[in-house]
This record gives sequence, C-alpha cells and structure tokens, in this order.
Amino acid sequence: MYVCLCNAVTDRQIKQAIASGDNNLSDVKKRLGVANQCGKCAQLATKIIQSAVSERDNFYEVA
Ligand code: FES
Repeated sequence: MYVCLCNAVTDRQIKQAIASGDNNLSDVKKRLGVANQCGKCAQLATKIIQSAVSERDNFYEVA
C-alpha cells in the first residue's frame, strides 16, 4: 500500500529500507524521500518503521 503519496513510497519499500539497515524516519527519509513534502505520511511511516525495526531486531536476537 502507498504510505507516502507525494513520493509514491509503499510500505514494502519502507520495510526493505529497514532490512537494508535504516533505523528511523530520518534514515528512510534520506533513502526514499518519504515525508519530505507535505509530511502527512510521517506518522504512519513511523509506525511501519518501528514495527519493521522491532521485527528485524527480534529476528537477529533469535538467529
Ligand atoms: S504524503 Fe508523504 S510527504 Fe506528502
């Protein structure tokens, strides 16, 4: 689903950015441009980022 309409960024792209090492909205903003125009997507993007970081970190704890 599209998270950032201004930049056509999807939740899948955000999750891939987290898997590639991004850790927060600032990192994802630099990589994908999310939330760099109207900013309406920032809250949802942050929730997706936090969830993806948590999943990634839990995966590495178990592995
Ligand atoms: S919807 Fe993301 S900056 Fe506007």
